[in-house]
Amino acid sequence: MPALDQALRAALNNRHDLLVELHQQGTDCYRLFHGSQEGANGLTIDRYGPQLLVQTFHQPLNRNELLAAHELICAHLNQPLRLVYNDRSQGNSRIDRNDPIYPAEPAALEDLVGHEWGLNYRVRGRHAGQDPLLFLDLRNARGWVKQHSTGKSVLNLFAYTCGVGLSAAAGGAREVLNLDFAEGNLSVGKENAELNSQLAPMAFLQADYFAAIRQLAGLPIVARKRQNLPNYPRLQARQFDVVFLDPPAWAKSAFGTVDLLRDYQSLLKPAILTTAESGVLICCNNLAKVALADWREQVLRCAEKLGRPVRDCQVMPPAADFPSSDGQPPLKTLILQF
Ligand SMILES: C[S@@+](CC[C@H](N)C(=O)[O-])C[C@H]1O[C@@H](n2cnc3c(N)ncnc32)[C@H](O)[C@@H]1O
Repeated sequence: MPALDQALRAALNNRHDLLVELHQQGTDCYRLFHGSQEGANGLTIDRYGPQLLVQTFHQPLNRNELLAAHELICAHLNQPLRLVYNDRSQGNSRIDRNDPIYPAEPAALEDLVGHEWGLNYRVRGRHAGQDPLLFLDLRNARGWVKQHSTGKSVLNLFAYTCGVGLSAAAGGAREVLNLDFAEGNLSVGKENAELNSQLAPMAFLQADYFAAIRQLAGLPIVARKRQNLPNYPRLQARQFDVVFLDPPAWAKSAFGTVDLLRDYQSLLKPAILTTAESGVLICCNNLAKVALADWREQVLRCAEKLGRPVRDCQVMPPAADFPSSDGQPPLKTLILQF
């Protein structure tokens, strides 16, 4: 497809300065092609260290297009990147594991290591989950955490593979707690910790968000109507200097529903109460249909109502490898200074 070749060349040219900067700062994980904004909706091409991960969400690429894109990128970066193609154009963005178009070479599917802000991250082109093990649009926020964690206690909520926790540990945090309910995600977080063994150890807590955060905030745990609650770890109420809240768009558990569109408040309120008096809460909303201005207003109002007015509120957009023509990237991040 000549159009894809042209769009990809333009995307690589647009990233020239950014890639120089990223390589200098010890980062080799970044987006090379953000299709929705760069001329091929539903196609993303990401570099994860030695691996090139191509994903399609609307329609598959054909083999020739895929191989031509791989060749162009390897030549441009002067790197023999190992190609993995995940077609996710079937229901619910699930990876088609039959690989009718291009099965990856075994070397591309090995456990590899990518780098961001000088830290090592586990990279796997295929694993039990659907998403890559590091969300690249959160890189700037992780960089902020690394710069502002010296001597702080840090709580990483919805930790996934613990990139935020790792950044805090690298920034000299005195204590880091990573919380997620998925054992598999936390176990990759533990691998990431082992890949950076020079850092102070982090703690990992496998728990439901609502069960854990409400205890930390000193709030009661509420069961859904007529439901018996599953067992959950008991925690003392306490606060952290830095709290990072990066929930998924939607998730339901026995303890509550994560719903970024209809109910950000029930996530935010206990997270604010768990943030120390002059601490920092970094909160995210990755739902494209939520406008930054509306969400920001909701967040500030919630803090005000809790008697915790925000002294400073900074917006942290993703870096230029996630271009957005309307200035409204799906991932919105606010850094709230209390
Ligand atoms: C969007 S990812 C978070 C990304 C992460 N903050 C990062 O830095 O890459 C969502 C995570 O939330 C976790 N999760 C979803 N619902 C949860 C709940 N009720 N309690 C705890 N973790 C939950 C999932 O297991 C997943 O790891």
